[in-house]
Amino acid sequence: MQPFSWLGHFSRQVLGKNPFGGNSPPTRVSLIGRGRPTLPVPLPWNYKEPLKIFEAFYTGAAREDGWGKHNRYLYAGGIAPVLVTRDPGMIRAIQAMTGDKPGQFDRDTSPTAGIARATGEDSLLYSNGSIWRRQKSLVAKPFSRGNLFQLHRFAGFEQTFRNTVTARLDVLRQRQLETGQSRLRVELDPEIKVIMLEMLVNNFFGGSVSYDELRERYVPALVYLIDHMVRDTVAPRSQAFGRLLTGENRLLERHRKAFDALTDIALSGRKKKSGLWAEFASDAPDADLRSNIMVFLAGAMEATTSFASWAISHLSHSPEWQSKVYSEVKTMDYYDPDDFAGAPNLNRVLEETLRLTPALYFLPRRAVVDTLVETKDGRTMLIPKGTHIRLDVWHANRCEEFWGEQVTGYPADRFAPERWTAMEEKGLSPKEMLHFGFGYGPRFCPGRSLGLLEVGLVVGAMVKLFKFEAVSGQTGAIAGVSTKPADNVEVELELRGQG
Ligand code: HEM
Repeated sequence: MQPFSWLGHFSRQVLGKNPFGGNSPPTRVSLIGRGRPTLPVPLPWNYKEPLKIFEAFYTGAAREDGWGKHNRYLYAGGIAPVLVTRDPGMIRAIQAMTGDKPGQFDRDTSPTAGIARATGEDSLLYSNGSIWRRQKSLVAKPFSRGNLFQLHRFAGFEQTFRNTVTARLDVLRQRQLETGQSRLRVELDPEIKVIMLEMLVNNFFGGSVSYDELRERYVPALVYLIDHMVRDTVAPRSQAFGRLLTGENRLLERHRKAFDALTDIALSGRKKKSGLWAEFASDAPDADLRSNIMVFLAGAMEATTSFASWAISHLSHSPEWQSKVYSEVKTMDYYDPDDFAGAPNLNRVLEETLRLTPALYFLPRRAVVDTLVETKDGRTMLIPKGTHIRLDVWHANRCEEFWGEQVTGYPADRFAPERWTAMEEKGLSPKEMLHFGFGYGPRFCPGRSLGLLEVGLVVGAMVKLFKFEAVSGQTGAIAGVSTKPADNVEVELELRGQG
């Protein structure tokens, strides 16, 4: 295939030519169509509802035969094709073929342009090719399972993390006691954010920022900036104009300064070799690490908060699973996420949370050259150069055909941690049944071990201290950089009557 120009794309679009090849090509989605939740492209008026934008790709797809209902493409406006897939086999194959080798996919940077403007372009998350490879060897190792999970190191982090979680939940406990009421209504998502940032900044990077400062200055700065990054990606010009008119630039500047100050604090532990820095052997100057530290601070706070918030939200709707987890954690003084045998119920809850409500709901890729992808079951798709690929993990994991009653024993869109036992009994291993909660292949999440430790501790400690019940009957999802429960995890807390 030849590289496409605007005119080339446009004429093919008008002629209705499918630019994909192989024995399992995707089917076309038109720009305008009936019965859709929204248009299948992000625009200033619908960008806050990305899950609906993806959903729009599958409206009417049931009429397609075979895999065409799960692999869809938009090809309009003279721009390169956009491929959206909720086909687990294709998602896996494309992730496995992402990297810096010739013919491999890049991570598509277009949906994260705002992140790069805020943190720098050379971070592990944003970069591609040789810069990505260098960043990976520079910073991924200290987070790796092999490093973090050496027993003496892990136990050290576990202890400081546990102290932080216990102290913060104790504040909630005190608040509850002071009301003199048996139940306290509270939104947990904002509380979880502060705990997550505190663990990262103080326990992991060896800083010493007070809880109040984190809560009053740094968390609001990161929340504002993360939202700004999304807006700045979708509509940079109109956003900049709007800020000029409203004087919001001053606010933006203030929060940027706070983020810079927090990054300095995280980096300052390097000289003292505190926290993670004790494991960090590299002579790279601080300036080379800066963008990654920024990505870690903002990205890790966002992803771990999403994960923990969803787990607690699901449990708040399920007294049955809450007591199952409680029966495990009530006497537990040490939590090792690698030792699943110690807390199988908690781990099933976490696995199911990532399946049903993944923090990162889509993974962007880009074809650098015409690329032939082959799934494990022998299906092929030729993806033309320049294609923007969206691996739609959210809808793949909710698709009845892949995760529903026939396969797992439970409806795909229901929170049912017991499905993991049912699958085990059927001989379906988690290696086969991938939910991609931490990605797959070369660009797999380097923070998985750290993230699982933090989330496991927060969820475990929460269940140990409180019973909690959702205020809303059903919790919807909202999405920006990551997904989160629409009700901010508003629950009624009740003390379990022991510290
Ligand atoms: C526990 C919650 C977390 C979840 C659910 C999560 C999820 C993910 C996923 C799905 C990816 C793959 C993205 C892709 O393929 O395009 C990823 C990549 C990444 N994650 Fe995480 N993550 C979490 C925690 C963390 C933490 C704690 C850190 C670091 C401190 C981190 C740092 C990164 C980085 C730097 C990448 C990019 C890696 C690369 O492209 O080579 N994550 N994460």
